[in-house]
Amino acid sequence: MLTIVILSLFLYSVSGYFTLPGKCPENVALQKDFKLPDFYGKWHQAYHYSSDGLMMNNCSKLILDTKPSGAYWNQSRVDRGLFHRYSMAKLDIPIRIEDAANLNVTFTFHDAPRRLRVRSYPFRVLATNYNYYATVYTCQYSSLIDKHFIYVWILSRNLILNDVSLELAVKPLSEIGVDSKKLVKEDISNCSPKYYDDVNTKPTTFRYPVPI
Ligand SMILES: *[C@@H]1O[C@H](CO)[C@@H](O)[C@H](O)[C@H]1NC(C)=O
Ligand SMILES: *[C@@H]1O[C@H](CO)[C@@H](O)[C@H](O)[C@H]1NC(C)=O
Ligand SMILES: *[C@@H]1O[C@H](CO)[C@@H](O)[C@H](O)[C@H]1NC(C)=O
Repeated sequence: MLTIVILSLFLYSVSGYFTLPGKCPENVALQKDFKLPDFYGKWHQAYHYSSDGLMMNNCSKLILDTKPSGAYWNQSRVDRGLFHRYSMAKLDIPIRIEDAANLNVTFTFHDAPRRLRVRSYPFRVLATNYNYYATVYTCQYSSLIDKHFIYVWILSRNLILNDVSLELAVKPLSEIGVDSKKLVKEDISNCSPKYYDDVNTKPTTFRYPVPI
């Protein structure tokens, strides 16, 4: 009985997250001749699309950085207008040049059970001109309920994305079947949290250890 309750609660939460029918989009054309070194540095989330409709990633910034131990991905956000939060991952760099925009981010959860400790998620660059905009998405699929989740970042080097860049940035969304009208503009008037409590936490964009 208890197992059934737990399982149905689990299915309930999973079905809130995975809402789009079927598998993740396939054969998606990513940014050609992607140059990761030009992509490093700081990006602001100017618009986003989250297929579960939640706004868990307000005032988000992404910092991509190289260190002697590898390339790192730092996503920060403002939680409930109160706290700064960030999540760190390692950036997995593809070996083949043709796959250059086909990045993954890998999180290590030290306090998780061993088989859930290391989790890798796609981080695919659809388009970028490196100096103004970038369009990136992640997708997770649940074989259990045959649905997927998509998160899209329209990133901007500056706090405000100019209209020409926005137009270029939304073009490739058709590749993944996302309607640009569904993009949510970042409300930058609300990005100074009350407490500067900078804590490393779980990411909000990559929620389930795959595969489920
Ligand atoms: C991640 O980024 C946030 C906000 O930009 C910063 O405050 C934090 O120190 C960074 N964390 C690391 C480990 O670099
Ligand atoms: C993000 O902002 C929206 C409104 O702008 C708010 O409704 C939502 O609760 C915020 N989310 C978090 C996790 O702070
Ligand atoms: C990214 O993850 C996919 C699926 O797990 C894997 O096939 C691919 O090799 C990974 N890419 C890199 C650069 O690690």
